[in-house]
Amino acid sequence: MEKTSFMIAAVVLLVNNSLACLAVTSLTTDQSALLAFKAHITSDPSGVLAKNWSTTASVCHWVGVSCGVLQQRVIALNLSHMGLTGTLSPHLGNLSFLSLLGLSFNHFHGQIPEDLGSLHQLEGIYLGYNNFSGDVPSWIGNFSNLKLLDLKYNQLTGSIPYAIFNMSSLQRVDLTSNGLYGSLPEDICDHVSKLKGLFLSLNRLYGRIPSSLYKCGDLQYLSLSFK
Ligand SMILES: *[C@@H]1O[C@H](CO)[C@@H](O)[C@H](O)[C@H]1NC(C)=O
Ligand SMILES: *[C@@H]1O[C@H](CO)[C@@H](O)[C@H](O)[C@H]1NC(C)=O
Ligand SMILES: *[C@@H]1O[C@H](CO)[C@@H](O)[C@H](O)[C@H]1NC(C)=O
Ligand SMILES: *[C@@H]1O[C@H](CO)[C@@H](O)[C@H](O)[C@H]1NC(C)=O
Ligand SMILES: *[C@@H]1O[C@H](CO)[C@@H](O)[C@H](O)[C@H]1NC(C)=O
Ligand SMILES: *[C@@H]1O[C@H](CO)[C@@H](O)[C@H](O)[C@H]1NC(C)=O
Repeated sequence: MEKTSFMIAAVVLLVNNSLACLAVTSLTTDQSALLAFKAHITSDPSGVLAKNWSTTASVCHWVGVSCGVLQQRVIALNLSHMGLTGTLSPHLGNLSFLSLLGLSFNHFHGQIPEDLGSLHQLEGIYLGYNNFSGDVPSWIGNFSNLKLLDLKYNQLTGSIPYAIFNMSSLQRVDLTSNGLYGSLPEDICDHVSKLKGLFLSLNRLYGRIPSSLYKCGDLQYLSLSFK
């Protein structure tokens, strides 16, 4: 009897230790991803990252960073309205548990790195009011949990990847004021049945307004004005 409980205790200890180890290693991955992100920032006028993102504290206590409750991993990065300038580090793609990426109202430029395509947990992408250029990445269509895609007021060019309209959770897409051209797919509503808002004004779109739009039964806002 005593032997059994000792063994159970030993097993529990072992499992606990290896879980703790695993959590620490993974949070270390998140920390190096965030430090790489910080290293790509060329201007941080309020100095908040320089001061606050210190390796003496857990990343979970860093400004703009939130961790999960059960799983101590970074689940949100929200640094909106911080006046930051720089490019996006591909290492952000290592934040495997990230569900919110919010960098609106800054001066980020360059392309949105392909490595972000591996962030399968993403539910919200807010990159509006920056200077991102290049294409709207077609891998954005890989995010099966994505509800909100906000890339408004950037310098994105190319056509709108049809793959976007394959994300079944999608509720709101805002691509207002970019340099996007092309037409909308005729079957736009076949897979995005939860779509509530589609904002595409101030681009260079042309062609027919898809007659199948009525299939987006929840659609409340649609803006296609201005070239
Ligand atoms: C960073 O900011 C957070 C939230 O404002 C604060 O709790 C924390 O103490 C700060 N850490 C440092 C090292 O300044
Ligand atoms: C991100 O942070 C800004 C400023 O603190 C806040 O206004 C905004 O609601 C946050 N966004 C999300 C999606 O939580
Ligand atoms: C993080 O991402 C970069 C670029 O995507 C990759 O080269 C690197 O091996 C990754 N590091 C870890 C610790 O996963
Ligand atoms: C974008 O870049 C242009 C030209 O370099 C600059 O005038 C503008 O202020 C930038 N906008 C943002 C939001 O960084
Ligand atoms: C997106 O999904 C496709 C098909 O599942 C896969 O081949 C591709 O590698 C994924 N892209 C990224 C950037 O993860
Ligand atoms: C969208 O999904 C459908 C069915 O899953 C697939 O046949 C089609 O190729 C996808 N389209 C794009 C552009 O990814």
